[in-house]
Amino acid sequence: VTYLHNCWYVAAWSEEIAPGATLARTYLEQPVVLFRQEDGTAGALLDRCPHRFAPLSAGKVVGDRIQCPYHGLEFTADGVCARNPYGPGVRSIRVRSIPLVERHRALWIWMGDPDSADAGRIPDLSYLAEAPSTAFSCGYLLTRANFEIVSDNILDLTHTEYLHPTTLAGNQVVQRVKPTTRETPEGVEVTWFAPNVPLLKLFQAIHPEVERAAMLTQVSWCAPAIMKLRAATIPADATGEEGFVNLNAHVMTPETNASTHYFFAATRNYRTEDAALNDFIAESRKRIFSMEDKPMIELVQQRMAGRDFWDMRPLLLGGDEAAVRARRRLHSLIAAEARAAQSAPVSAAQAAVKTAASDPPFARDPVNRC
Ligand code: FES
Ligand SMILES: [Fe+2]
Repeated sequence: VTYLHNCWYVAAWSEEIAPGATLARTYLEQPVVLFRQEDGTAGALLDRCPHRFAPLSAGKVVGDRIQCPYHGLEFTADGVCARNPYGPGVRSIRVRSIPLVERHRALWIWMGDPDSADAGRIPDLSYLAEAPSTAFSCGYLLTRANFEIVSDNILDLTHTEYLHPTTLAGNQVVQRVKPTTRETPEGVEVTWFAPNVPLLKLFQAIHPEVERAAMLTQVSWCAPAIMKLRAATIPADATGEEGFVNLNAHVMTPETNASTHYFFAATRNYRTEDAALNDFIAESRKRIFSMEDKPMIELVQQRMAGRDFWDMRPLLLGGDEAAVRARRRLHSLIAAEARAAQSAPVSAAQAAVKTAASDPPFARDPVNRC
């Protein structure tokens, strides 16, 4: 199983964790506890107490610490044991701390070498943070499929007329219009544009006064699986060039090779104070993704049965270009990371990560006798 390690992944939406709460999630097959201190600051630790390996996520937050539920050791977000009920010497007891940054209404986690974790490399999803709360919604679905299969679903929207016949279909633009696909410094971008077409069904419900409009749909992908989806409905009499724009996000974080944390969010540039419309869009999207996309993606995963995508010699259609380019781009990054890891000396931080991740218990003397 290969993943890109030295990059930022979305771990959770900010609103998923309240002050004083914990959230257990697995990323890239490693169990992690996310928690918010009582002052609201978020942290991430390996979800395994170094004493008897209890999940810290089953414990509770006490001030700025998380307390192990088994024997009560308490750890701060930097991984240091700040309280040992049984004796002194507590600063030598550590659990692996994992870099976590809160930005763009999300918590971003870095599962690779912590020395390389540069917050400046977090993808720019600032439009999510800038939207008013009545023009923003987000959701999460744990999907039982490899994250690249979930990404493919967004990069190739030709499924719309078939998988969403009563909800999103309506103008066959993505079937009939040849998309423009291009590589960018950040990743891959695919654009469909059609002048003077009927609206998609969801937009018909939102803009009943508009019969036909130009439609622009654009997906911008960057590694590992972060996509902005711009859907602009531009009536002939629109003031300004943009029209009604829905600017959404689709972000996938691998849980394992066969399961994905699927994060999605929506913003818009029209009726931004309309809370009822915001609720309608949020509920529609969650229903469509959970009832229509997710079951099909999970069936594809079952049919692939763990085999490699390319080994299965997939038939490639015109609409697959962006997804194929994204796959190739990601895999070249993973290969480059593997080459760099082989040639680079192991940093202290990497060594610590390795030790925390792979040391069998009691392979050597217990490190702390407190
Ligand atoms: S297992 Fe955590 S304190 Fe014992
Ligand atoms: Fe879909």
